[in-house]
Amino acid sequence: MKKSILKYLERQEYISGEILAKKLGISRVAIWKQIQKLKNMGYKILSNQNLGYCLVSSPDLLLPEEIQKELSTIYVGQKIYYFYDLESTNITAKEKALSTKEKIDECTVIIAEKQTGGKGRLGRKWLSPKGGIWLSIILYPQISPSYIPRITLMTAVAVVKAIEKYTQIEAKIKWPNDILVNGKKACGILTEMSAELDLINWVVVGIGINANINQGEFTDDLRDTSISLKEVLGKEISRISLVRTLLKEFEKDYEALKRREFPSILKEWKLFSNTLGKTIKVNIGEQIVTGKAIDINEKGALIVKKQDGELVEIISGTILKVNKREK
Ligand code: BTN
Repeated sequence: MKKSILKYLERQEYISGEILAKKLGISRVAIWKQIQKLKNMGYKILSNQNLGYCLVSSPDLLLPEEIQKELSTIYVGQKIYYFYDLESTNITAKEKALSTKEKIDECTVIIAEKQTGGKGRLGRKWLSPKGGIWLSIILYPQISPSYIPRITLMTAVAVVKAIEKYTQIEAKIKWPNDILVNGKKACGILTEMSAELDLINWVVVGIGINANINQGEFTDDLRDTSISLKEVLGKEISRISLVRTLLKEFEKDYEALKRREFPSILKEWKLFSNTLGKTIKVNIGEQIVTGKAIDINEKGALIVKKQDGELVEIISGTILKVNKREK
């Protein structure tokens, strides 16, 4: 109902409660109640006894009705759960995916203004103050669990394209899924899933973009390695527009993935990579592999050529050190 009222408010300067009530088939009191709710959400709406209601401004919040206003996707983000603060959008997305009470559609989005317990890869914390974009997408892909890294790589490609399209900032991907701007981390991706042998129950793709965050807000340990888009551009960006662009890019690439067109995504990933061709040190849990990153294979694994010529396929790990590109 709030969405429909907003549509009318946006169309003209003043609209009377009576006309709104007629158009939407509810009472004037119900309209008044919805207007109060919109005001509480941060919409500035003037009320005039003779003229009716007039929308002055919308809040700078990632509200579903704002995102969906000009969202041109077919299904990604057509259902959005919004929270002002949340422990973690990934945790809520997992709870939704597991819920037996409600059916959660593919590509439902969970979004929050801030997270109190944002989750990073490998059990790390993810700093998530207000001003960032913290969202998770719920998927039910019909692929083998071993191909999950493809979804992470595909997401990284979609994020880079969205950032470039919307802000013209050049972004790079550090394998597997760190998005870097000027060599510093601007976005992280955390993919979690539930699967049985050959069957995926659900996948949650969590995306965290340091959008409008002040450099001073990064904790000491992150300050030298993290960056926000606001800092790069020297001004705030419209988070709503970036989210719309991201959901659109995500849908295009997810569709390509479902059509088994991973090679074309991989090609783009390689184009955006800041890892390939460099000598790197990768922590793969039980050991550290040093060598030249020479390729990514069709499973999304990084191929590292060690000094003795041995090729190592790394499906999951963390790059500790990157040396300059070698000829
Ligand atoms: C990383 O360590 O690079 C991954 C960071 C992923 C952060 C995002 S923010 C939205 C979603 N919810 C979380 O708790 N984590 C992911």
